Amino acid sequence: MQQEEIWDVDAAQNYDTPGAGMFAPEVLGPAVDRLAELAGSGSALEFAIGTGRVAVPLAERGVSVTGIELSRPMVDQLRTKADEATIPVVAGDMAAATAPGKYTLRAVGLPARRSSVAVTMPVSGASHRSPPLGLTASVWP
Ligand SMILES: C[S@@+](CC[C@H](N)C(=O)[O-])C[C@H]1O[C@@H](n2cnc3c(N)ncnc32)[C@H](O)[C@@H]1O
Repeated sequence: MQQEEIWDVDAAQNYDTPGAGMFAPEVLGPAVDRLAELAGSGSALEFAIGTGRVAVPLAERGVSVTGIELSRPMVDQLRTKADEATIPVVAGDMAAATAPGKYTLRAVGLPARRSSVAVTMPVSGASHRSPPLGLTASVWP
């Protein structure tokens, strides 16, 4: 099954659980705190930005965030929370897409149930090699 088939309209519309699960403040807060610290006064590039679970609160803290995302339905959900001027998104595969600009932080946000066996997400980021790649795993019961 392709990623575009997994992250379809139904998945996108049911992804957000505001205030609960992977959106719970105790799960998301520490990840956003750390990413804001790593971004410093610079900009952040989030691979597989999805509905903006991480990017929206990061942008609300004043960090300039750009995303790369394969799924149009996931971006449509993000757009209910932040417009293109606030969080620009490059449509495409993060292994090949290029986001213009310079970034002090490149990150992938990975939500994972504690019961998950493994989470895999290929990132070559060939066009984004300069700053180190941060990985934030939000693990919840
Ligand atoms: C579990 S969601 C995570 C979304 C967000 N990072 C978060 O923390 O909530 C996985 C996302 O990765 C995106 N994705 C998967 N493979 C991708 C790829 N090769 N390039 C860009 N996005 C991809 C999916 O479309 C989906 O939006």
